[in-house]
Amino acid sequence: MSGRLAGKVALITGVGGGMGVVAARRFAAEDAKVVGCDLDTDGAAATEALVRSEGGEITVMGGVDLGDADAARAWVDAAVATYDGIDVLYNNASTQRFAPIEEMSIADWDFTMRNELDLVFYTVKAAWPHLKKHGGGSIVNVGSIAAMRGVEFMAQNAHSTAKGGVIALTLQLVVEGGPFGIRANTISPGMTETSNTATLLADPPERMRTVVLDRIPLGRHGQPEDVVNAAVFLASDESSWVSGTNIVVDGGASVLG
Ligand SMILES: NC(=O)c1ccc[n+]([C@@H]2O[C@H](COP(=O)([O-])OP(=O)(O)OC[C@H]3O[C@@H](n4cnc5c(N)ncnc54)[C@H](O)[C@@H]3O)[C@@H](O)[C@H]2O)c1
Repeated sequence: MSGRLAGKVALITGVGGGMGVVAARRFAAEDAKVVGCDLDTDGAAATEALVRSEGGEITVMGGVDLGDADAARAWVDAAVATYDGIDVLYNNASTQRFAPIEEMSIADWDFTMRNELDLVFYTVKAAWPHLKKHGGGSIVNVGSIAAMRGVEFMAQNAHSTAKGGVIALTLQLVVEGGPFGIRANTISPGMTETSNTATLLADPPERMRTVVLDRIPLGRHGQPEDVVNAAVFLASDESSWVSGTNIVVDGGASVLG
């Protein structure tokens, strides 16, 4: 075992689709013992089978709704029961709804908070005592450049607020976790090609193309691997003195505003 995550038990949320699939494959290829979950049962099973076929060690629980605190705890507890500890908690999963502020329903606002912010709090809260008992670990939360600026092409009021919450929560975890060896960091991706954005990127609205896609200094949108590369670093011991950073992975887009 010589991978960058050799010997680490890594919990990854949302491995049934998008970046989560790439994360599960890469973490397993780096010799982590991966415990994943997803709301999507078929996606969860497919990722489990794929990673195992590649020789990786992985268990994926499907049908887990992390917006339910008890379900989040049950998933974390099952991982601890299997491996007797946790080294990494990678909060990748999220889902959200978009509408201009006047049309944003209370239900859609609450849905977004539940599925982008609450679920991070729930997994962290469930994992925290285990991380403490284990002598520390690494929490990797996924934010977004949406939290850093307003945009004209997407009615992201709830999404950006929830992701801002993830970034703020992470900063507090740094302080509360430091004495126990718990590190916490955020990765904030820009526009990245996944199942969630594929349709949008295949036929982007003119406004989005001109104000976003044509203005990415590195000249392309992101691939899941770009984001997962940062996650591997934050999960590994290479970042053992890094806590509280927000790695922006966006081809330079947010610098242009
Ligand atoms: N794709 C982008 O352009 C982009 C940009 C910035 C940030 N992000 C963030 O990166 C992360 C991954 O994005 P993606 O594009 O791969 O998303 P995705 O929608 O393709 O995949 C998310 C996965 O999370 C799962 N999930 C959602 N809610 C869940 C819940 N309540 N319980 C359990 N599982 C749940 C989904 O079933 C899905 O498999 C997300 O946090 C997203 O907000 C993505």
